[in-house]
Amino acid sequence: MEVSLAKALSLVAIFAVLLQFCPESLSLELSPSEKEVTLSTNSSFTVVCSGWSKVTWKSAHVPSLEGVSVENRGTTSVLVLHNVTWRHSGNYVCEESSTEETKDISVFVPDPEEWFVPLGPGVVMKEGEEGTIPCVVSDPGVNVTLYERASQAPVEGTYHPSKGFTAVLKDSSYICRGAMNGEEKASQVYYVHSTMVPKSMNTFMTLSKTVLKQGEALMVNCTVEKVAIVYFRWEFPRKEIIEPLTDFLSGNRELRIRSFLNISSATLEDSGQYICRVQDTMSGQSAMVHLTGTVLERGFVDLEPSVSTNVSAMQYESIELTVQIEAYPKPQVLWTRDNTTLAGDTVSIDTKQVHKTSYLSTLTLVRVRMEQMGLYTVQVANEDDVKEITFNLQVKAPSKIIDLSDQHMVQGHGVLCVTEGGPHAHHSLVQL
Ligand SMILES: *[C@@H]1O[C@H](CO)[C@@H](O)[C@H](O)[C@H]1NC(C)=O
Ligand SMILES: *[C@@H]1O[C@H](CO)[C@@H](O)[C@H](O)[C@H]1NC(C)=O
Ligand SMILES: *[C@@H]1O[C@H](CO)[C@@H](O)[C@H](O)[C@H]1NC(C)=O
Ligand SMILES: *[C@@H]1O[C@H](CO)[C@@H](O)[C@H](O)[C@H]1NC(C)=O
Ligand SMILES: *[C@@H]1O[C@H](CO)[C@@H](O)[C@H](O)[C@H]1NC(C)=O
Ligand SMILES: *[C@@H]1O[C@H](CO)[C@@H](O)[C@H](O)[C@H]1NC(C)=O
Ligand SMILES: *[C@@H]1O[C@H](CO)[C@@H](O)[C@H](O)[C@H]1NC(C)=O
Repeated sequence: MEVSLAKALSLVAIFAVLLQFCPESLSLELSPSEKEVTLSTNSSFTVVCSGWSKVTWKSAHVPSLEGVSVENRGTTSVLVLHNVTWRHSGNYVCEESSTEETKDISVFVPDPEEWFVPLGPGVVMKEGEEGTIPCVVSDPGVNVTLYERASQAPVEGTYHPSKGFTAVLKDSSYICRGAMNGEEKASQVYYVHSTMVPKSMNTFMTLSKTVLKQGEALMVNCTVEKVAIVYFRWEFPRKEIIEPLTDFLSGNRELRIRSFLNISSATLEDSGQYICRVQDTMSGQSAMVHLTGTVLERGFVDLEPSVSTNVSAMQYESIELTVQIEAYPKPQVLWTRDNTTLAGDTVSIDTKQVHKTSYLSTLTLVRVRMEQMGLYTVQVANEDDVKEITFNLQVKAPSKIIDLSDQHMVQGHGVLCVTEGGPHAHHSLVQL
């Protein structure tokens, strides 16, 4: 008792120590923790990010802008901005890659002349409806509006001074205008292009059958969704003879392109790996899918009992006899007892496909009776093969004394005890 109490106390102590070193939440921390800082020109600023695994800083500037340095020290990363100018304005993001958690800080270095910070070449690639025009300002006090350049029409959206203007955008050119203290300035021009390609193209392969017999037809589809122009490259056993075909499948939502193999009569040589490589020429994305096909000379059946074939049960117990089946083509399963088909309310047979060529067949006997003892055979057959397994079912009744009698023995006195139970009666003689 004392020992386990001592152990418990030491565990409490360990927990107390752990709690002292853990902050309230396992999240990233920035020091200083402000969401936004405004710096004066030529000053310097340091911010430390700490997490629980590897962390690092990112921004549209890092690391190409002079005066920005990042020092990674494993679970901490230090961002230093030296002798800052208006060009250092923007959003700096610390990311913990293992958890994908981020924390950011907005930095502003106001300059009376320079309001808009140039970030990148002014080309905005957008996916979907919305996009962000990165017209970041050096001073959060500047009032910014977004215009479509051609029509000069203002565009509705949300503006964040260190990130830009997020709005529903067309493939067009846009400009931001800033107003402050009665003065106005315009940003550079931003050109918006929609990318045809989503974050990842969806490629999948289907085989009409992964196991088949020679002479049967085989179709292999390699389908890509959400792409415009795509190249297919195939690897498969009879590449020299069979030509892949390509067609466009018009779905109601998106374009799908299919490259496929149509083998009308498979041969043993068609067994093997089917590899489809897809390359999208627009985005440079590529993908590979593969499956294995097996062509059999003829069909087959293999059986394995799930339990011993010698089964014993107590009377009124429920029992299950199960066989695992591997077969192609799909087999017929027949359970019989002493050569007669099984029937009745308390007997049920269930055969289910668990995988392409795998099946499980179960015979259930509910509240089994003595007279159900005997040989149960499961026969599994298809057009090419037949196998069977026989279970020997023993049913035992609980022992019951049916007779006790005094016996005079050579050396004194005994009791003969006759019990019933199981297939036979038992006689036992106890000497007193
Ligand atoms: C910043 O430093 C540069 C050179 O060191 C100097 O020319 C400039 O006047 C300084 N600007 C401010 C606002 O202190
Ligand atoms: C910052 O500017 C001062 C002069 O204004 C200069 O002496 C110093 O080397 C600069 N520091 C960096 C890191 O550029
Ligand atoms: C920004 O615009 C709002 C509304 O249009 C106005 O109330 C505010 O004074 C403007 N701020 C500056 C600095 O011009
Ligand atoms: C292959 O694609 C075609 C067209 O979508 C479809 O009709 C067929 O069922 C597919 N075959 C397989 C094996 O998925
Ligand atoms: C595939 O081949 C079969 C038999 O050769 C043919 O009847 C069928 O039209 C073909 N399917 C396609 C989609 O080409
Ligand atoms: C089942 O019992 C018989 C005798 O009753 C024995 O010969 C046989 O080996 C047993 N089989 C198994 C799988 O235990
Ligand atoms: C079942 O029938 C087969 C032939 O139909 C016969 O050879 C076998 O002995 C029979 N078995 C039993 C247990 O009656």
